[in-house]
Amino acid sequence: MNTKEIKIKITEFSGTSELPEEEQDLLQQAAKSASNSYAPYSEFHVGAAVLLENGEIICGSNQENAAYPSGLCAERVAMFYANSRYPGAKVKTLAIFAHADHFLIDKPISPCGTCRQVIAETENRQKSKIRILMQSETGPVNMTEGIENLLPLTFYEEKLKKK
Ligand code: THU
Repeated sequence: MNTKEIKIKITEFSGTSELPEEEQDLLQQAAKSASNSYAPYSEFHVGAAVLLENGEIICGSNQENAAYPSGLCAERVAMFYANSRYPGAKVKTLAIFAHADHFLIDKPISPCGTCRQVIAETENRQKSKIRILMQSETGPVNMTEGIENLLPLTFYEEKLKKK
């Protein structure tokens, strides 16, 4: 038997002022986008802002549905739209912001499992890591370089190869 331990690396900033201006702006755009969410069921609003290597910023917010599974998270709305609008443009940074109607979120939220898998696909396709910034209404900002920190033992397309 051989037990392996996997280390992940998350950096915590006490506030946005510790971040470069470009990233402060990206988090602000994610926050603005959260206000545009369609979340009448969860009353939980998430915004995502994707900074592409070509300098463009694409935003998205969670879009819910009375048939719950038909809704989509903010991260996937933004990531999918970014690649449809600018196919092949590399994603440099993804900023995520959340707030709720009836309680205060006091720590950063991190993307759900399905969104992590979508971020992993993007990293694999572009052959470079994505910087992920996570923030809520109050509390610190979390940052990680690359999805492997959020999704160790990731499933990649290589695993589909027959030979
Ligand atoms: N949600 C996101 O948009 N991103 C996340 O990272 C977590 C959850 C959305 C999905 C749903 O509309 C609401 O938040 C509650 O789960």
